Amino acid sequence: MTILVTGATDGLGRYVTTELAKAGHRVLAHGRNPERLRALRDELGVDTVQADLAELRQVDRLADEVLERVDRLAVLVNNAGVGAGADPRRREVSADGIELRFAVNHLAGYHLAQRLVPKLVASAPARVVNVASIGQEPIDFSDPLLERSYSGMRAYRQSKLAQIMAAIDLAEELRGTGVTVNALHPATLMPTTMVREGFGAPLSTLEEGGRATLRLILDEGLATTTGRYFDSNRPDPADPHPQAGDPDARRRLRELSDRLIAEALGRAPR
Ligand SMILES: NC(=O)c1ccc[n+]([C@@H]2O[C@H](COP(=O)([O-])OP(=O)(O)OC[C@H]3O[C@@H](n4cnc5c(N)ncnc54)[C@H](OP(=O)(O)O)[C@@H]3O)[C@@H](O)[C@H]2O)c1
Repeated sequence: MTILVTGATDGLGRYVTTELAKAGHRVLAHGRNPERLRALRDELGVDTVQADLAELRQVDRLADEVLERVDRLAVLVNNAGVGAGADPRRREVSADGIELRFAVNHLAGYHLAQRLVPKLVASAPARVVNVASIGQEPIDFSDPLLERSYSGMRAYRQSKLAQIMAAIDLAEELRGTGVTVNALHPATLMPTTMVREGFGAPLSTLEEGGRATLRLILDEGLATTTGRYFDSNRPDPADPHPQAGDPDARRRLRELSDRLIAEALGRAPR
């Protein structure tokens, strides 16, 4: 059974990938940079897949490759992410012209999970883990991609809440299949590239966030827990921002996500 970790070439993803590989798990490590991926493969002996998640065609191709290469997929860990940015006033867009944090942090994992659902269901018991954050802001559906009032922090926080909302929806969709879907805040201000670049001085360790993430990936005690959000290593689920509990907001997010993906891929929305 394989565990797919996105953003495995740095920070939390690299830590989690290393721990899983050391413990003897089969890891398929995703990255965007071929050289960093090669170094990771040489160091840990893991299999690797490459895609820039800022382009939905590459996400789609990544899904094709995973479906082809992996017999059974035990866990998808949607970990790759972009922080608030070195210049938080500068709005960035993906290769598809979509606000970058929304595209990479939410849409890429959303689409990857949708594409991998058949494999996950066939491999059940299986899990999807969305690495979100405690930094969450509600999505303003009159300006969801922040064309009018942009800040890097707001874009980051909206994308992180979107990941939690998407986890709740997918958990509901997959109820009874043996595939669970949960989201977490790993730890506050771990010493990683995105924190150094845009958030300030570290407050916690990679070990803390790694432990919380590994728990959602592996802990048998959570085998049937689904549609929940966890705050770091607190044993019980926590409450995300209230917008996550609003079915109408989740429907609007789903419709927006499906439309953006369909436009980028030149297909009809699902
Ligand atoms: N650090 C914290 O305190 C903290 C707190 C709460 C939540 N989180 C979440 O934890 C996750 C990991 O963050 P981190 O702190 O470990 O950050 P990081 O060290 O900056 O690592 C981010 C990872 O995502 C990859 N990535 C970024 N953009 C990508 C793209 N367009 N396509 C493919 N891969 C891309 C990076 O690839 P490269 O190696 O090529 O750069 C890297 O592997 C994120 O989802 C973040 O929001 C972190």
